[in-house]
Amino acid sequence: MNLKWTAALAACVMLASPSGAETVVVTAAQMVDVLAGREVAKPQITIVNGRITAVGHQGDAIPEGAKRIDLGERTMLPGLIDMHVHLTGDPHFSGYTGLEFTDNFWTVVGVANAKRTLEAGFTTVRNVGSANYDDVALKQGIERGYIAGPRIVPATYALGSTGGHCDATEFPPSITTSTVNIANSPDEYRALVRKVHKYGAEVIKVCMTGGVLSKGDSVGAQQLSYEEIKAIVDEAHMLGLRVAVHAHGTAGINDALRAGVDTVEHASLADEESFKLAKSHGAWFDMDIYNDDYILAEGAKNGMFAESLAKEKMVGLKQRQTFRAAHAAGVKMLFGTDGGVYPNGDNARQFAKMVEWGMTPLEAIQASTKSAAEALDKTADVGAIAVGRYGDIVAVDGDPLRDVRLLEHPSFVMKGGDVVKRP
Ligand code: ARG
Repeated sequence: MNLKWTAALAACVMLASPSGAETVVVTAAQMVDVLAGREVAKPQITIVNGRITAVGHQGDAIPEGAKRIDLGERTMLPGLIDMHVHLTGDPHFSGYTGLEFTDNFWTVVGVANAKRTLEAGFTTVRNVGSANYDDVALKQGIERGYIAGPRIVPATYALGSTGGHCDATEFPPSITTSTVNIANSPDEYRALVRKVHKYGAEVIKVCMTGGVLSKGDSVGAQQLSYEEIKAIVDEAHMLGLRVAVHAHGTAGINDALRAGVDTVEHASLADEESFKLAKSHGAWFDMDIYNDDYILAEGAKNGMFAESLAKEKMVGLKQRQTFRAAHAAGVKMLFGTDGGVYPNGDNARQFAKMVEWGMTPLEAIQASTKSAAEALDKTADVGAIAVGRYGDIVAVDGDPLRDVRLLEHPSFVMKGGDVVKRP
């Protein structure tokens, strides 16, 4: 970027900003420019009232009265984005082991996980399923400064069909469970989309096929008809919301893509047809490929259903092979971990898996920054260290393009110009 121009811009913004505006200038040895796809030496970032006003180089003018943060030899990156989390989930209570807790226990779990997630460098998350509108509550608590946490794009309840992945299938018929998220026709799904939108959903999550952790369904089985998913997509898009579908099975993935969904979660059994559909519709794959390691190592100890472990063994390796093939075929990929199914806060462990299965470190980082912001429709706010976006910055002790594992231990985290974690 032209140096004079950035200095001039910083100066105008200073003039334009109200007096008392908080200005922070951050410098480091280098920065990953995820938009240009390269590293930049000696960057200098100016943040005024939480938004970036200048991206220049050390030596550029520094606004008077600015607070200075020099990160020394470290590398700066944009705040990371996890496109698939459940902040109110804790995998240590799997299967039936969570039933000893009262309903709002999980809200409290969410408070702790929000802090952990932010401190791990994830300044934005898409929460794709929680009960009781908990993710909206967390978002409100974070925005009002009651608790620490990332920016949240909430889905509220994950929608699904009777007996499907997002229904409570693990109880006998005499036990009554909540069915607020369950529908069984296009019209009923339209009504559900309207309802969750009314109460704060900013993205719609749908359970399109069976799953690993759900009891009594087969991972590959489709659970909504094409007409149902089409009604959801039409309704959501009309309201300006995007649609994320949980889908492992091939037929469900392909019907969801034909219906125009925006992101396919898991995508384990996607085939060549799925890749073609995803590319022609501009849809993203959001594949939680670290999960398999955690589930196979800890699932049994955590009380996971035996049938879930068996399903994981069927699908885990296949999902990683599909990840490699989808990326090679040119499908747009996101970074989503399913945090909650493995410990929230360990999200960054997935970067190394994505590199092991075919991405460059830069591509894996872009999946969690640039591309994630595109998939959220928030390129004005997050996903890059760029003028206009929030001052969401992480720093690591070395070069993440050589060793992507450095992201597992960020030494500095800033959200909206506020330091969350310092070296
Ligand atoms: N929530 C997902 C499900 O129950 C987790 C899948 C985990 N396994 C995996 N290989 N990604 O289906």
